[in-house]
Order: sequence, then C-alpha cells, then structure tokens
Amino acid sequence: MDEQFGLAMSLTKRVGWLSPVMYTIAACGIATVMAYGNHLIMAKELTSGSFAAFVASLLLLYKPTKTLGQTLAGIQYSFAAMSRTFELFDLVPEIKSDPNAVKMQGFKEKIEFKNVCFEYVEDLPVLKNVSLTIPKNETLALVGNSGGGKSTVVNLIPRFYDVKSGSIEIDGIDIRKLELRSLRDNISFVFQDNFLFSGTIRDNILMGNPNANESELEKVVTMAHLDEFIDTLELGLDTVIGERGSSLSGGQRQRVAIARAMIKNAPIVILDEATSALDNKSEAIVQMALDNLMQNKTVFVIAHRLSTIQNADRIAVINEGELVELGTHNELIKIENGKYKHLYEMQFSKAEVTA
Ligand SMILES: Nc1ncnc2c1ncn2[C@@H]1O[C@H](COP(=O)(O)OP(=O)(O)OP(=O)(O)O)[C@@H](O)[C@H]1O
Ligand SMILES: [Mg+2]
Repeated sequence: MDEQFGLAMSLTKRVGWLSPVMYTIAACGIATVMAYGNHLIMAKELTSGSFAAFVASLLLLYKPTKTLGQTLAGIQYSFAAMSRTFELFDLVPEIKSDPNAVKMQGFKEKIEFKNVCFEYVEDLPVLKNVSLTIPKNETLALVGNSGGGKSTVVNLIPRFYDVKSGSIEIDGIDIRKLELRSLRDNISFVFQDNFLFSGTIRDNILMGNPNANESELEKVVTMAHLDEFIDTLELGLDTVIGERGSSLSGGQRQRVAIARAMIKNAPIVILDEATSALDNKSEAIVQMALDNLMQNKTVFVIAHRLSTIQNADRIAVINEGELVELGTHNELIKIENGKYKHLYEMQFSKAEVTA
C-alpha cells in the first residue's frame, strides 16, 4: 500500500509539472511573437496579413505539442508497468525439479511421512517430527487446533514447500526426486476458497484437464451435481462467470472446483473443507459432490464436519505441530483425556445436536 502510494506520488511529481510549464512556455512564446511581429510590421518588413496567418498557424501547433506532452506522460506509466512485469518474469521459483528427477509413474501403494519437520520462519517449528503412512485409497481426516499445522501437512505433499528435515515418500521415492510436474499431475485439490477465473464455466472446469472430451465433461458436471444449475442457464456451460467466479453462489463455486478436480482424475485428492456457512441444502449437495470425488481415491481431508470425520478411514489429530493421535473414530473416542475425545465433545457433538 505504502509502495503504491509512493509510486503514485512520484508519477504525479514527474507528470504534474508538465502542464503548467507548457502553458508558461506557450504564453511567453506568444508574447515574444507578438512583440517581434509588431516590430516587423512597424518596420514595414512584414504585412499584417502574413503576420495574422503566422499567428494562426502557431496557435494550431499548440494542441499537437500538448498531446505530445501527455503521450510522454503515458509512456512513463507504461514503463512503470513494464518494469513490474519484468520483475515477475525474473522471479525464480524456489522449488524446482531435481535435475535427475524421475517421472512419477502413477500411484501404486502408499504415501509416507518420515520424521517430517517443517518451519516457515527460522526457529519457529510448525511441524515436529511427524511420521505417518497412508495406504492407497484410504481417506485420512486431519483434525486439530487452529494453527496446529493441518494445512501445512497437506501443502507439503505437492511440494508447495519443502520439508526442513525428514522426508515424504510416495511408493518409496522421496518426492524431491520426482519431477515436479508429474507429482502435481497426480494430485487434485479443492480448497476452502477456490480460484475461479473470469471466463466460461466450461473453461474453468477444463483447467483440470484441457484435453478432456465433451462426454467426460458432461460426466463430471453430473457427478459434481452441477447439471441442474447449468440447465437453468441460457448459455449453459458457456456462461461467463465474473472475476473470481463472483456471479456464482458459494456452493456453486465449490462444485465448479470439485468438477475441475474430478476431470483431472488424479489418484491423490486434497480437500480443505469449507468452514464458511452454506445453507443446509447446498451443503448437502456439495457433500454429495465431494463423496463422488473421493471415490477410489487416496484422500487427505481437513475436516470440519462430523460426517466427514465419521466417513474417514482414519483420523489424524495434529496438535501444535505434532501428530498426537491416529486411528478410527471408535478407537480415538475411547482414549480417556484424549485430544480427539476433547475436540469431539467441544466441537462436533454440539454440531450434531444442532444439525
Ligand atoms: N505462509 C506462512 N508463513 C508463516 N507462517 C505460516 C504460514 N502459513 C501458516 N503459518 C503458521 O504455521 C502454523 C500452522 O498453520 P496451518 O495453516 O498449517 O494451521 P491449520 O492447522 O491449518 O489451522 P486452521 O485450522 O486454522 O486452518 C500457524 O501458526 C501459522 O501461523
Ligand atoms: Mg488450515
């Protein structure tokens, strides 16, 4: 914000003097011409007619000169914009494929976290020695205190960040040894706030797999429970949605994001469940769409709803960056003074009563 203000100020400073200076120069110029012209007419070296013609053409010259000044100011703006753009081009991502990386050949067996430690800021550990094995086709629910590190755990799998120590292995291969592109091709995401861009619904879904054909597209639209909604639109899938999907409701945006993840058909699915309140009906539809997405996939779901937790195969309780409990709902609920039991009583049993 400050930087933007500073830039706008410096531009205004550079451009602002142009106009008054131009006026002053023009005024002085006209005065000089008048004085000299007068002198020449008096000396009979010039007729008053030619002088009038000269002054008229001089005045005509004023406008283009002024436009030129404005154009120069415009060019200054463009240069400022260009330097910002080039700064972006010059950014080098910190996380790159290893030169000897191998392509990830599908997902066969398991994902392992081995003594994973991680910190965003030096000496502020966020994950402390997390070890966890998730077999293929398991649904693992992550629960725990806010700021405990659940989102961080899932962000490490597609290598949005790299572990500080320890490792994450897929089918026994460290993910840092896998080609980044192929790793991310095997993972789909649905976040709380999904990125939709302004464009058609079709384009937004196809972003998950630009090569999908029409029948695949229709299938995911049905599976994501978007068909009824799309039938009500005059242009159907070709309806343009506003910036960030602003012309859709929260539930519709979620389902477009789910359809996008479905069409990608990646074996590993990461879900950060929306906490924002949807009304009961759209919540139920989103839930059905999610259930379809999760079928036959290995799923990490950051759970906020009791139903998700109960449907999960296992639950991992992440508390202050540590994996404190791991097991099924029935196992964890039996631990006296257990973290899960506490969380369940605090958060979810209440939700059950009100639901
Ligand atoms: N980009 C970041 N830079 C620095 N610190 C971060 C960053 N992202 C998260 N953190 C910190 O890491 C810790 C864990 O955050 P994380 O988002 O993983 O928690 P969470 O369990 O997902 O919480 P919630 O349930 O509120 O979403 C928090 O203390 C948070 O402040
Ligand atoms: Mg989170």
